[in-house]
Amino acid sequence: MRVLVVGSGAREHAIVLAMAQDPGVTALACAPGNAGTAAVAEQRGLDVLDPAAAAALAVDWKADLVVVGPEMPLVAGVADAVRAAGIACFGPSAAASRIEGSKSFAKDVMEAAGVSTAASEIVDNPAHLDAALSRFAPPYVVKDDGLAAGKGVVVSPDFDTARAHASTLLDTGHPVLLEAFLDGPEVSLFCLVDGETVVPLLPAQDFKRVGDDDTGPNTGGMGAYTPLPWASPSLADELVASIVAPVAAEMVRRGTPFTGLLYAGLALTSAGPAVIEFNCRFGDPETQVVLALLRTPLARLLHATATGELAAQPPLQWSEGAAVTVVVAAEGYPGLPRLGDVISGADADGVLHGGTRRRDDGAVVSTGGRVLSVVGTGADLVLARDDAYRRLENVHLAGSHHRTDIALRAARGEVTIPRRPEVVTRSGDIH
Ligand code: AMP
Ligand code: GLY
Repeated sequence: MRVLVVGSGAREHAIVLAMAQDPGVTALACAPGNAGTAAVAEQRGLDVLDPAAAAALAVDWKADLVVVGPEMPLVAGVADAVRAAGIACFGPSAAASRIEGSKSFAKDVMEAAGVSTAASEIVDNPAHLDAALSRFAPPYVVKDDGLAAGKGVVVSPDFDTARAHASTLLDTGHPVLLEAFLDGPEVSLFCLVDGETVVPLLPAQDFKRVGDDDTGPNTGGMGAYTPLPWASPSLADELVASIVAPVAAEMVRRGTPFTGLLYAGLALTSAGPAVIEFNCRFGDPETQVVLALLRTPLARLLHATATGELAAQPPLQWSEGAAVTVVVAAEGYPGLPRLGDVISGADADGVLHGGTRRRDDGAVVSTGGRVLSVVGTGADLVLARDDAYRRLENVHLAGSHHRTDIALRAARGEVTIPRRPEVVTRSGDIH
């Protein structure tokens, strides 16, 4: 099978590496790729937001399967164009990608599917902002209604900070979504979805804030780990039954079936699991850890999902143990990152490339905010953390920063799901 991966981040590097290990893959290309993917796959130029160009490349390269990594090409219709050219594509249509591309659309689908999510209100008129914000209690959650690469969200206990973020968005013509705050640990659950068939991968946890102890602004993700030692082994199946399967069924009912990877971002609150957001593609950096433990050949699995054969696949196989990834970010990220710095140690095993390119003189240089994603594995989270941070010591990028506490609280057994408030029944028992 000839596999073409679209995208240029560490998620795509992880997908390309997993594909390279699948004995069924005879040729591999990544477009536009980066210095890391170029070491494993043919590199092709591509404007990923041009559906016709993506389809033309897939035809020209004779791809049997196209895997689209990022959300923007999906929302732009790349999967539709590739499928229209007669080539199997792992990734949803533009219509189904609205589950990520529009938070208000996602809320509408969740409501119709009876799925629990934070209460919310859309504001598109600055004159209504103060009154709307006053209907929520702190901490305030203010989001850009459209795509914002994880950076359009402000969560703050302070009314004025929340109002300032909302005003900035409104002033630039972006409708704002206000949400009730969800307490409890977050889970990223990736599911292969083919119409109504839903197969969950291992649940993971992502670290959104830029600084240790979850301080500073939100980012695209500064690290991740899997599995979750603090969660019940049946968590993924429970979340599929109560959340992901009803949403997949609702998408079919609307005539926009989802094909590809549906990523549920959830909070395990004291009142039960609730959806924070849906994404229409693999998450970055969680993919780097989830695929590090997947043993089932990836190309066959994604091809089956893309061609309506997911239900016929055998159960997924996973390695024992744990995986941890730590993101190395450029100076300035999540603001304007400094680019063009030389990276040393980037060619080592376990170092996935997020924003890199190889210069003519052979040096690997930074081209984005999240530059590398260093992956460690081990028998448990403590050992996987040690492995990731040991690998990271050999990587150098001037001015870069990373979190030092990825998976630390989980490794120490400090992550807990908040308890439901105690309910006293008539017999006097406390539940
Ligand atoms: P999003 O772009 O919707 O994924 O939000 C980014 C991050 O903001 C999430 O991963 C959470 O850490 C935080 N967040 C978003 N919505 C909420 C909410 N309703 N309650 C608590 N935290 C939230
Ligand atoms: N890790 C968050 C995301 O991919 O959106």
